[in-house]
Amino acid sequence: MTEQTEGAVTVLGLGPMGSALATAFVENGHRTTVWNRTSSKADPLVAKGAVKAETPAEAVRASPLVLVNVIDYDAARMIVEPVAEDLRGKTLVNVTADTPDRARDMASWAADHGIDYVDGAIMTPIETIGRPESVYLYSGPDDVYKAHQPTLASLGGTATYVGADPGRAATYDVALLDSFWTAMSGVIHAFALAKAEGVTAGELTPFMQGIVGLAADIVPELAADVDRGKYPGDASTITSNAAGMEHIVHAAHQRGIDAGVIEAAKAVADRAIDDGHGQDGFARLVETLARR
Ligand SMILES: NC(=O)c1ccc[n+]([C@@H]2O[C@H](COP(=O)([O-])OP(=O)(O)OC[C@H]3O[C@@H](n4cnc5c(N)ncnc54)[C@H](OP(=O)(O)O)[C@@H]3O)[C@@H](O)[C@H]2O)c1
Repeated sequence: MTEQTEGAVTVLGLGPMGSALATAFVENGHRTTVWNRTSSKADPLVAKGAVKAETPAEAVRASPLVLVNVIDYDAARMIVEPVAEDLRGKTLVNVTADTPDRARDMASWAADHGIDYVDGAIMTPIETIGRPESVYLYSGPDDVYKAHQPTLASLGGTATYVGADPGRAATYDVALLDSFWTAMSGVIHAFALAKAEGVTAGELTPFMQGIVGLAADIVPELAADVDRGKYPGDASTITSNAAGMEHIVHAAHQRGIDAGVIEAAKAVADRAIDDGHGQDGFARLVETLARR
């Protein structure tokens, strides 16, 4: 066990992620108290040097800084609401993923109970926790965040404070995961389409990495158009993009492959064209999406 020199911290929730967070704290010398609904999940952490609490109240009383990391905010609230009095005067950092509005609701509940509240989002998988590749976002009062920054730094990687509105970390989280899951759905659909034509996923992979990388390279240009509210179609127009999507829909239908994802994307492009924006660039679809 590492010598315990740093600030005490409590971790509520010991799924794969909560266990990884608690491990990083223990390994960095924090007195780490852990609690989980299924209490046996605390045992491997106790073997590493953590202290197992029998109840959330006991866990919360052990440290000035309490992290909660469970499946969603309903579960987080079920755990922390009954121990609100024990949390009074302490800092609660909620690194559970959920929506911006739910983060704001939880911040307002915390304020009503004299609890300092920071909302966080973890943007990288458990293997990265405690390592340089991990990425964390935090929002809420900046003095509260700064006070606990040295302890949170034991999680490793890059932590970014994204603003005082407690909903901002969750906003980044849902927006970034929106792009991730949509891209993943596209990759899987592409593998299905190629397989139906006799091309293996492995054969496609080097080219797939190229085209996914190309999409990443275009992001700053799209972002500049979105933030300026100007959508020049000099390099490529929505009309041309929609024609390209149509080929994919046809190719999928010809092999009996579900084309729902690409059809939904094309429907948005078609709406922009119907609105008279066919000669604009793809970034215009941000406005089309906002007008349901
Ligand atoms: N895993 C990752 O790589 C990753 C990456 C980034 C962010 N995250 C986020 O981290 C959070 C936790 O994820 P996870 O991977 O550890 O697994 P998870 O399945 O999302 O959460 C498991 C944890 O939630 C607890 N839980 C579920 N329902 C509960 C309830 N009704 N009351 C009390 N506790 C309840 C579980 O307790 P029991 O053990 O008793 O079931 C366990 O501690 C999620 O918000 C997730 O989106 C995870």
